Amino acid sequence: MSSNKILELQQIKREFVMGTETVRALKGVSFDVFAGEFVTIMGSSGSGKTTLLNILGCLDKPTSGSYLLDGVNVSGLSRNELARLRNHKIGFVFQAYNLLPRTSALENVELPLFYNPELSVQERRDRALGALQAVKLADREDHTPSQLSGGQQQRVAIARALVNQPVMILADEATGNLDTRTSYEIMALMQDLNQEGKTIVFVTHEPDIAAFSSRTVMLRDGKVVKDSKNENVRSAKEALAALPPAEDY
Ligand SMILES: Nc1ncnc2c1ncn2[C@@H]1O[C@H](COP(=O)(O)OP(=O)(O)OP(=O)(O)O)[C@@H](O)[C@H]1O
Ligand SMILES: [Mg+2]
Repeated sequence: MSSNKILELQQIKREFVMGTETVRALKGVSFDVFAGEFVTIMGSSGSGKTTLLNILGCLDKPTSGSYLLDGVNVSGLSRNELARLRNHKIGFVFQAYNLLPRTSALENVELPLFYNPELSVQERRDRALGALQAVKLADREDHTPSQLSGGQQQRVAIARALVNQPVMILADEATGNLDTRTSYEIMALMQDLNQEGKTIVFVTHEPDIAAFSSRTVMLRDGKVVKDSKNENVRSAKEALAALPPAEDY
């Protein structure tokens, strides 16, 4: 594993002012993530996981504290610079897939590439098809989201996250809507991507999903209460093989 830090968080605080009340969603979060790590962020509902992930993904800014993404101090950047950084370095995967309806899988995956004016129509197509191949869905390129299963829709969303070849994938409850088998399939894909060198930060509140990662950061009430390496990373492919046959449930 290379030793360069992809993320460096120091004393990150995020407060939301709601009328006369202030919600302190993050109360001073500090940790680093190194290139090639597969980190899960755990914690109960309201502990600050999504707030933290939005900051990591430059979708939101902290109230205070410093955040370096691949060595770049994010707080000094303009909105345009942030959007550029986000588009080049980060792939997002959400619980609700966030695919465009009535739009083919291939076109959904092509979307992030429209921000890159240097790409020709053919290059855009080829890259999107390559990303669909990486998630084993090339044979579904013409299907719209409603013509795909939940797990397939999530794989399209992962292909879309991969198409700009980001250094890091951020996922927020990406298996939250999926059954056990499909969740494990998504985790097997995440483990493959991690093997290929992608850094992954994956929010979940399910311990059996966190077992597939190599490190878990536990949040409680806006603070890190535990940050531990997982010595026995579970193989999602083995977990899949150990499940009873699909028709049994
Ligand atoms: N935009 C916002 N405005 C005001 N308060 C917010 C906002 N976003 C989050 N919060 C508050 O910040 C706290 C952390 O919320 P967050 O969404 O990060 O939790 P979470 O750990 O992702 O929970 P869940 O597991 O339910 O998704 C909560 O108390 C929430 O109500
Ligand atoms: Mg959340």
